[in-house]
Amino acid sequence: MEKRELIYEGKAKRLFNTDDVNVVIAEFKDDLTAFNGAKKDSEAGKGALNNKISTELFKMLANEGVESHFVAMLDDNHMVCKKVDIIMIEVIVRNVATGSLSKNLGIPDGKILPFTLVEFDYKNDALGDPKLNDQHCLILELVKNEAELDQLRSMARHINDILRPYFHARGLNLVDFKLEFGRDSEGKIILADEISPDNCRFWDLETGEKMDKDRFRQGMGGLKVAYEEVLKRILN
Ligand code: C5P
Repeated sequence: MEKRELIYEGKAKRLFNTDDVNVVIAEFKDDLTAFNGAKKDSEAGKGALNNKISTELFKMLANEGVESHFVAMLDDNHMVCKKVDIIMIEVIVRNVATGSLSKNLGIPDGKILPFTLVEFDYKNDALGDPKLNDQHCLILELVKNEAELDQLRSMARHINDILRPYFHARGLNLVDFKLEFGRDSEGKIILADEISPDNCRFWDLETGEKMDKDRFRQGMGGLKVAYEEVLKRILN
């Protein structure tokens, strides 16, 4: 597999073309950003941890029948992925209120939601990733039709139904997370991006300790130790 030219650089990853037109290499960066890039830092080893955590989760989901862009982990910081056209919608899944949900709607932090909430945010840094409703998604032509929005919601709920007990068995409460989806070369919508403590919130079931990027957002320190602990529990 030959790593060729850079095709995209995001806040946490770089994507490179390869000698196979249907395959890209994702490089997981050590960079940390929060508040739409307003807060920035770097933590050596963070990219490798997210690559390993995502690899294990994509493999586990594949065993459960959830198709993703994951092909293989290449080395510590690189993942081989199917090339997809990313759908510019961040699909947010919430089991417990916190973060922007609590801030925007006044729902008490830590309140268990009566049902799993799925929200759409516009993947658009220049606009600050605003909330979308279904009509916005259609007007912006982010998807082809309403059925595709229902498909995104049902795929996200299905993934939550797998991930939530998986993490519960490992002593972690899956509070909320963000997913991205893309279209493969045949137009099929599959899971893409990464699943890691950068885009999930995990609270330790016993202590309530935050084991995710909120440690950086809230200036708590101990980010790498927390990510290492998440990986350890996944591998056990
Ligand atoms: O900030 P907010 O409460 O909306 O985040 C909800 C979930 O989505 C969190 O797990 C957060 O890590 C994730 N998220 C993300 N990327 C964004 C926005 C949210 O990974 N741009």
